Amino acid sequence: MTAPIAIEVKGVRKTFLVKDGLLSKPRHVVAVDDVSFSVPQGGVLGVVGESGCGKSTPARLILGLLEPSAGEITVEGQKILAMDRKARARLIQPVFQDPFSSLNPLTRVRDIVAMPLIAQGTLDRATVTTRVEEMLERVGLSREQGTRLPTELSGGQRQRVAIARALVLRPRIVVCDEPTSALDVSVQAQILNLLAELRKDLGLTYLFISHNLAVVEHVASDVAVMYLGRFVERQPTETLFAHPEHPYTKALLASVLTPEPGLGVPDVGLGDTLPDPANIPPGCRFHPRCPIAEPRCSVERPPLKPRPGGGVECLLVP
Ligand SMILES: Nc1ncnc2c1ncn2[C@@H]1O[C@H](COP(=O)(O)OP(=O)(O)OP(=O)(O)O)[C@@H](O)[C@H]1O
Ligand SMILES: [Mg+2]
Repeated sequence: MTAPIAIEVKGVRKTFLVKDGLLSKPRHVVAVDDVSFSVPQGGVLGVVGESGCGKSTPARLILGLLEPSAGEITVEGQKILAMDRKARARLIQPVFQDPFSSLNPLTRVRDIVAMPLIAQGTLDRATVTTRVEEMLERVGLSREQGTRLPTELSGGQRQRVAIARALVLRPRIVVCDEPTSALDVSVQAQILNLLAELRKDLGLTYLFISHNLAVVEHVASDVAVMYLGRFVERQPTETLFAHPEHPYTKALLASVLTPEPGLGVPDVGLGDTLPDPANIPPGCRFHPRCPIAEPRCSVERPPLKPRPGGGVECLLVP
């Protein structure tokens, strides 16, 4: 039996009008270009790609923090933008990269975790306290650590606070945007294991964004590879790592063979010039950097070639 759909993204496009200087002409940056995908309940869709390829934009759209320029997003069957803030907070929560900037340095840990509960305005003080204590314990923080300020904790402990804050309302879906990228490698594994454990125990669905393929392989059930605003390949995780099909996926995977964790952008061996979302090449958007491109790749737009549980957008794969 297939699981019901938790996140459904249909034909979503997001463009930004960017003005570089006072006298320059505004440019249309296409951050997400007609993307459709769904994530089943309990699934973990990992999204990978180079810096600026548009990984965070779908996350912000799904969270309702941005409005799509076109297309539709439903979360657990509900249109995200039609929901009020409180209902949305009960359904879907984010965990972002940088717990240093996302936690108020002057607020005690237990008050940070209590905030989403208090904002709902429905629980009495004693219930809030109990729920916060339960949640802190669940993410591996002591009662004493609950009385501290974020500045008195390590990076990993701070990310535990951010996770507790995200989960205290018992949401159904968590959007993790580079949740371990700011952490030391040894701590990254602990946080990934914690997220995996919580997903299992609480029956959560994750959208998990990372530039680090090794991290995604560790947590995701499916992986989408993003290039200039499109998912150029999506496959179940094992298939993608064992038999990558898109030349860009292959380049990304080759780059993991020489991992430099915490470095940010992987060296994909395709040159230093990052592609420009304000100037998307015609035909296949990857053709200028593709090692196997043919003349038709600069003219014809690659159709989606379906695969079990995904697909590949390349003219040259069967
Ligand atoms: N609010 C905004 N205004 C203008 N341009 C934006 C805005 N948000 C994103 N962009 C642009 O859209 C493109 C995609 O951005 P996005 O943040 O989704 O990429 P990303 O893959 O998450 O990057 P990173 O790996 O650096 O986090 C980039 O070119 C970015 O500059
Ligand atoms: Mg990002």
